[in-house]
Amino acid sequence: MTPSVEELAPRSEDEVRAHLAAGKLVEGLQHMSPEYLKGIRRILTVSADTELISAPAYLRAAAHAPALNNFGSAVSIIQDELAHAHIGYRLLGDLGVDMNALIYEREPEAFKYPYAFDVALDSWHELVMANALYDQAGFVLLSDVHRSSTFGPWKRALAKVDKEETFHLRHGRTWVKKLCADPVEKARVQAAADWMFILTLEWFGLPDERKRHGIQLEYGFKGLTNDELRQAWMAAVVPFMQEVGVDVPAHHDERAGRYVIDCPFPARFDAEAKRWLLDEGPIGWDEVVERWKGRGPMNVGYVTRLQRGYRSRPAVAA
Ligand SMILES: [Fe+2]
Ligand SMILES: [Fe+2]
Repeated sequence: MTPSVEELAPRSEDEVRAHLAAGKLVEGLQHMSPEYLKGIRRILTVSADTELISAPAYLRAAAHAPALNNFGSAVSIIQDELAHAHIGYRLLGDLGVDMNALIYEREPEAFKYPYAFDVALDSWHELVMANALYDQAGFVLLSDVHRSSTFGPWKRALAKVDKEETFHLRHGRTWVKKLCADPVEKARVQAAADWMFILTLEWFGLPDERKRHGIQLEYGFKGLTNDELRQAWMAAVVPFMQEVGVDVPAHHDERAGRYVIDCPFPARFDAEAKRWLLDEGPIGWDEVVERWKGRGPMNVGYVTRLQRGYRSRPAVAA
């Protein structure tokens, strides 16, 4: 029987608050309350699942690398992502989670990564756009965790992860810039941005007026709110896209001092056609959450691929 969070985490909520107020980090179960443990498990699972699923998603697109050395760069990014996933799952293991069950025995729809990865990356253009947009989103989120996290082991591990994510998004930007110099390639880069930009806007979750992760902010699992993170991502991505001449539906509003989205948002998405149905106007977040929960076209295929070796070799599973 796996022990319950109450059995694993001996501190009261007040003791955790006092520990944090004294400027100390949480180093393990001995410093945690059940609420802290549940919260840190949740955010670590989302992070590790996101890193893990990016591997099959990027590998699929890497097959379209223009040359062998470009394939090598893509594979080294994939290797980084697997190492990032490993960090998250190992920490979850230390926090009393059955790692094998979590990684290899969970149903595909129980994985907790952003919906964007459920949509196939089918070309080198889409892979490098993913590096420029998705890895930038990962970087924004993890830098925030690195700054704010009160969980010492993760905070320290993220110093390495942040550096590698910088390499990934630089890989994306270098390629986007290079491809944009050629009108034919640029059109394909633009087509990738057309569906991928809005999916990454969704990545940051419900707007602040709809959802506040009180405990996430209070216990310092993250520092910024969803909308603040979305703004930080646009501040990094929009000026770059303008510089290379790729149109994205967002601009900086000088007077308001923030980025504004220029298309219906959130909107309906045709995942098979990889196309936004913007003519239908904005939709409610409830409909978006329903799409997220139903998962997208690649969910089952990617998770099955990740679990195949474990499931087909009982000796490893034992
Ligand atoms: Fe990563
Ligand atoms: Fe990455």
